[in-house]
Amino acid sequence: MPTQTSSEDDILLAKRIISASERHDLAALTVLLKTGSANVQDPTATIATSPLHAAIVACGKVEDGKAGDDAVKTVELLLQNGAIWNDLNKEDDTPGCIALRLGQKKIYEIMIEAGVRAELLFAKMEALGLGQIKVDVDVEVDEQVEPAVEKEDSGDEVEEPSPKKQKISNGEEPVLKEKIDEKVLDDVSLDNHAYLKSQLRYQPGILLDSSDNAVMMDWETQIMQRHATTLIPRSGLRVMNVGHGMGIVDTAIQTHDPAEHHIVEAHPQVHQRLREQGWYDKPNVRIHEGRWQDVLPKLVAEGVVLDAIYYDTFAEDYAALRDFFSDYVVQLLAPDGRFGWYNGLGADRQICYDVYTKVAEMDLYEAGFDTEWEDIEVPAGLHGSHQWKGTRRPYWTIDVYRLPVNTFIK
Ligand SMILES: C[S@@+](CC[C@H](N)C(=O)[O-])C[C@H]1O[C@@H](n2cnc3c(N)ncnc32)[C@H](O)[C@@H]1O
Repeated sequence: MPTQTSSEDDILLAKRIISASERHDLAALTVLLKTGSANVQDPTATIATSPLHAAIVACGKVEDGKAGDDAVKTVELLLQNGAIWNDLNKEDDTPGCIALRLGQKKIYEIMIEAGVRAELLFAKMEALGLGQIKVDVDVEVDEQVEPAVEKEDSGDEVEEPSPKKQKISNGEEPVLKEKIDEKVLDDVSLDNHAYLKSQLRYQPGILLDSSDNAVMMDWETQIMQRHATTLIPRSGLRVMNVGHGMGIVDTAIQTHDPAEHHIVEAHPQVHQRLREQGWYDKPNVRIHEGRWQDVLPKLVAEGVVLDAIYYDTFAEDYAALRDFFSDYVVQLLAPDGRFGWYNGLGADRQICYDVYTKVAEMDLYEAGFDTEWEDIEVPAGLHGSHQWKGTRRPYWTIDVYRLPVNTFIK
């Protein structure tokens, strides 16, 4: 009888791990995970491609019964053994997406907590210069969700490749640099500097970059107006908006009669638009041309104090938002002032949105802010509507916008 090769052994072990996960057989799974990985893949499956996917699919719809204790413990055991929260199956679903669709709320909450833990840990490791560990995970599992790239986008610097890119290069930096350049040329929203050099198009109801990304759309008008109202409770306040875009939020800010209205904007074509629309001549309006990273240190040095700050840029990632509030809002905001920001990261996938909303709330708390949330339904029928025609991808596919208002913890 022929002996099994190690790869046949591996396939068999993977199948047994996925099968034990599907049966919520904790005893078998505990033994199998001593030698096997919680991230094995079944290439023949479409939905239950990983142990986590298998364990969650097997819970079935909540109408037919809530996930039992063993199902919950199976998911927890897999996560404790390093199962990746945002691994994708062939239908482009994470395990959390499946839990949400099945209505299995408890499992969904566990997946959100796992996402939050992972993202906070990765951020800490990046801060300590240990980002390489995340890289290993990213490279091993190539089918994994990247947060949505709209608004607070991946601001990977071409000049300083992220650890992930360094890992992919395997030391072949010139090749890597070309690959990154190609990617950024193809999609300027991957790099803030590339975006700021790119050609913008103002069209009715939409602002597009040269890669056809929607930078701003007019379906967000209600959201912008609400941001202005929640940040500015009375007239005569000192307000700053970072990122002018289509001018929707700045127009709303003007209706609250501010004593000072600072606008920080970095794109030359947006400056041109501000000029054409007379913003430079409006009383109490002060326009600061440049990236907020360069402008705000000067305002701090000038001793500027603000009652309300709003942040909505483009082609910047979550780390930029975190730097913005922990480095600058803390210095510029009056003690009883309010801070608001466009909460759009991960808005093309509910679980990513929920994870990033929580991560932001925790980081804000660490920086000294309380957060209050207001839920706003986005216009019905937005997803799949003609409004996205001609755009690279819809950056918003979920039903509810969670509007944050931050104040200093008392
Ligand atoms: C999504 S739009 C803002 C839309 C705006 N809230 C409105 O109501 O129309 C983002 C804006 O941020 C600007 N921007 C991007 N990166 C920036 C940076 N680092 N500093 C300042 N402005 C930036 C973009 O040029 C763009 O005008």
